[in-house]
Amino acid sequence: MRKQFKQTPKRNPNIVLIGFMGTGKTSIGKRLSAQLRMRYIDTDNVIERDSQRRISDIFAEDGEAGFRKLESEAVDKVSKLYNFVISTGGGVVLKESNVSKLKENSIVFCLTASPEEIYKRVGHQTHRPLLQTPDAMDTIRTMLAERAPYYAKADHTIETTERTFDEVIADIRRIYLRTRYSSKPKYNTKRYGKNSARRTQREQLSTPRRSRNS
Ligand code: S3P
Repeated sequence: MRKQFKQTPKRNPNIVLIGFMGTGKTSIGKRLSAQLRMRYIDTDNVIERDSQRRISDIFAEDGEAGFRKLESEAVDKVSKLYNFVISTGGGVVLKESNVSKLKENSIVFCLTASPEEIYKRVGHQTHRPLLQTPDAMDTIRTMLAERAPYYAKADHTIETTERTFDEVIADIRRIYLRTRYSSKPKYNTKRYGKNSARRTQREQLSTPRRSRNS
């Protein structure tokens, strides 16, 4: 009799999206998970659900340090998952152990945008405590410069300024599907986006811009 082999389901690595506030992690993450039939989770939602408090209340009551502690606990949880698209809060990268835990089961993509574009997307919003300053544009520039070395730890960097969701998602999908079963290089920071040779001038001219909500 022929022996039957049971096929074990593949444990697909997660896609983790890191990047500054307003780079589109949530909007792109949700769309990407639907397209790739992966599940979706957001560390900020995990924090809010577990603590039964809003992010802005956590900052007001426990300060940024209290929030970062809860954020690391959320990272501990999500880094045990497989086959998820995981969006993270913009400051998750500030703690090195968060990044190394996330990298264990995941390919990490950093979404980027220009300070002007970030301001356009989130400057008017009130639910991000760190941007409630007298000069949000200046805050964005300063924080982006401070955080640049942390975001550079991503496996891949994808520019989102003047690009549609579909273009950004196509880049992530292509890289993910090509590399998900290969051992991934650590600290390999390939850049994709506006100036990538991959996009022809025709593509750039023909794709309409789309407004984003995060
Ligand atoms: C933060 C980003 C926020 C949220 C918190 C702190 C940060 O998430 O985690 O307000 O330090 O950049 P988003 O990046 O989803 O806005």
